[in-house]
Amino acid sequence: MLRIENLHVYYGKAHVLKGVSLHVAPGEFVAVIGPNGAGKTTLFRTISGLKEHHHGVIAFKDAPLPKDPAQIVRRGVIHCPEGRHLFGDMTVRENLEMGAFRWDHRDMSDDLERVYALFPVLRERERQIARTLSGGEQQMLAIGRALMGRPELLLLDEPTLGLAPIVRKAIAEALQQINQDGVTILLAEQNVAFALADARRVYLLETGQIVKVGTPEEFRADEHVRRVYLGGV
Ligand SMILES: Nc1ncnc2c1ncn2[C@@H]1O[C@H](COP(=O)(O)OP(=O)(O)OP(=O)(O)O)[C@@H](O)[C@H]1O
Ligand SMILES: [Mg+2]
Repeated sequence: MLRIENLHVYYGKAHVLKGVSLHVAPGEFVAVIGPNGAGKTTLFRTISGLKEHHHGVIAFKDAPLPKDPAQIVRRGVIHCPEGRHLFGDMTVRENLEMGAFRWDHRDMSDDLERVYALFPVLRERERQIARTLSGGEQQMLAIGRALMGRPELLLLDEPTLGLAPIVRKAIAEALQQINQDGVTILLAEQNVAFALADARRVYLLETGQIVKVGTPEEFRADEHVRRVYLGGV
């Protein structure tokens, strides 16, 4: 579904992605893990057309992705960004409606129902101003807004960063449900233990290069991964 080959991205002279290649098959739940500054967010922003690339191929369903972010969304590639980027002065409901912008004049009641079934708290808070939500509620809203665009491929950048374990668990369960409902997921996580619990296949990105790919089981058995990312356990 998504195929990236030899992707190079710079910020000025800083060479941040140094030949990244990865692929995601339809229906997969794949994670890109790596420490702070590895380039995960840069990778996602480049897929979404928010950052230009210097060299390489990004293909979606066997065709190159357009450069314009709005057109990329219309192709069904939807990005739930790190830090959520909600419309803070708008209500929960209005934020969700904004997520459906790629569909003109469409009845969105089924989509709203789907999001509210996944995150019941959003229904209760439908008229609340987004910036007054708790951190966990804001993250649920950011995911809900992304779902309103009916993603085929959902890019989720650090969806549980800084959240309490119970909220994290609710979000992790929702992600499994979203994936079972047929949405392909590419997740960025700096918490390796989380990523190994959530995803079925994992890429390790270190300073702009993919250094390992495998199943969660293979990652748990890997000496380097255990020592550096799993606290030596
Ligand atoms: N707008 C920018 N201008 C210049 N350099 C940037 C910019 N955004 C990111 N970088 C640099 O690119 C590198 C990769 O950053 P990126 O945010 O992609 O990492 P990350 O893997 O998402 O990290 P984190 O886990 O902390 O979110 C870092 O060295 C960062 O300083
Ligand atoms: Mg990041």
